[in-house]
Amino acid sequence: MDNEEVITLTIGGAQIRPIITLPSSSTILQLKRMIMERIGVQVERQHLLYYKILLEDNNIINHYIHEATAEVCLSVDLFMDERIINITVSNENFNLQLAVNKADKVIDLKNRIGDVFAFPAMGIDLWLMDRKMENYEILSKYYLNEDSVVKMTRGGLQLGFYERTCPGAEATVSKVTYRFISRAPTLAAPLLRMHFHDCFIRGCDGSVLLNSTKNNPAEKDGQPNLSLRGYHVIDAVKLELEKKCPGVVSCADILALVARDAVGQIYGPFWEVPTGRRDGRVSISADTLNGNLPAPFANISSLKQNFASKGLSVKDLVVLSGGHTIGTSHCSSFDSRLHNFTGKGDTDPSLDPNYVVHLKKICKPKDTTTIVEMDPGSFKTFDEDYYTLVAKRRGLFESDAALLNDNETRDYVKLQSATHGSTFAKDFAQSMVKMGKIGVLTGKAGEIRKHCAFVI
Ligand code: HEM
Repeated sequence: MDNEEVITLTIGGAQIRPIITLPSSSTILQLKRMIMERIGVQVERQHLLYYKILLEDNNIINHYIHEATAEVCLSVDLFMDERIINITVSNENFNLQLAVNKADKVIDLKNRIGDVFAFPAMGIDLWLMDRKMENYEILSKYYLNEDSVVKMTRGGLQLGFYERTCPGAEATVSKVTYRFISRAPTLAAPLLRMHFHDCFIRGCDGSVLLNSTKNNPAEKDGQPNLSLRGYHVIDAVKLELEKKCPGVVSCADILALVARDAVGQIYGPFWEVPTGRRDGRVSISADTLNGNLPAPFANISSLKQNFASKGLSVKDLVVLSGGHTIGTSHCSSFDSRLHNFTGKGDTDPSLDPNYVVHLKKICKPKDTTTIVEMDPGSFKTFDEDYYTLVAKRRGLFESDAALLNDNETRDYVKLQSATHGSTFAKDFAQSMVKMGKIGVLTGKAGEIRKHCAFVI
């Protein structure tokens, strides 16, 4: 049946059983309004069910019903604001009986459950049948009754995870980050890179922050991470948060939030960071060199494969590479492009020859200490220049140049460079949220460290 057709509905459940005919593309809300006109029951008090499925106001009728005639059941909330009912909240380990007011919001119920289990309400998902209950809906919307069993699961990441367990946690992160970045804006780049390196090895679990121990060299001491800096910013944030709410906010979340705030402070885009990550206990230096982190000399197929293995798309690859609009690189990260590309003392033909001349003045062969700005002139500002550079064959790494060797990534580079990064900020924000979800530990997994460099 297509959207143009009409449907005839018998409204069962009420004393009068009106029959209503309307286009099947009408919304449930429109249907409820018609019911109100016919039998006088306010829209807010109507619950419509079709084969036990609660029909949602914003959906259209033929989202649920594909027949030309059907009967939907109307249940009327007579005392919507006052009714207290007993419901059962359960998961595989327990059954909890709770008296709830139907006028309460779902988040109120979550808070009460969270109080019982000493767990942040925002980390709880509640389900009625297969339907996820939304935080700011009132309970009566879910047609709960005395027999209702609400299933509880421990959710993944959530916006505002620490809202109740550590109010103001995110503001504290921002405040401390601001203090550091305003004095040293160049720290924003390594902090962003630190979050990326954390996520690409064992997921965003703060493993990059752990110190090596006597028998275990940690990620921190892996070669690609030797150029990371800014650990003291994370430590300072953690110290402040431990004073406020000990043992609550994970180092992995702190890193994700600091990276966001630091980028924002140097005029980059803002994104909401869902939180609730827990800290991993494992960090192994060798993981930095076994294909988890993309190498600067990677070609496009290896980059695509690497990102795909982390659940990221080709678009995420080209968008996140835009992180190279800030920061610096050691000459050693692109040495062979200047001095010995194929082992014959030659240069990389995919690098603009004029740029080669310029870079060679700064980077002598085998130089391991000098650094160069990746986006010369604006390496401290998060802008869209990266794509103009790459389009002009002035990306510093082979991995940057490689973005011109695939239709999708090339089109993106060209588009952003031609339109002053028309969609880059929005895209970057989206891809960062996605990257921040790689392999996260939630619920009871991992731990909340007291100090980000040590497991507890
Ligand atoms: C696509 C594959 C990538 C490769 C091969 C790569 C490689 C590198 C290399 C070799 C450096 C220079 C390190 C040094 O010599 O000091 C660097 C720096 C940097 N990378 Fe990437 N990167 C990639 C993706 C990313 C992503 C996804 C981000 C963040 C979203 C990022 C952010 C940065 C930043 C901000 C710096 C500058 C760090 C500083 O100033 O200390 N990179 N990258």
